Amino acid sequence: MIESDNELREPAAMIICSCNVFSDGEVRALLELRPPAAGTAQVFRGLGHQPQCGRCARTIRKIMHEALPGGGDTNRPGRAR
Ligand code: FES
Repeated sequence: MIESDNELREPAAMIICSCNVFSDGEVRALLELRPPAAGTAQVFRGLGHQPQCGRCARTIRKIMHEALPGGGDTNRPGRAR
């Protein structure tokens, strides 16, 4: 049973890259529409940005791991290509 309107709302998007100002939702939407062949760099390109400080890379990889079969990031050492 739904107790309040808050239960009907989608979770708020969270800005994960403060340099380029994009959200986890934008990354998830990109991965759903056009899964990158490899790596976080393609996520940046797909969103029309370039990596800058790189602090968000770990979070992007985590989202890729959750959203893509096999975790997505094939550029990391130890991953199969
Ligand atoms: S926080 Fe994403 S490049 Fe700096």
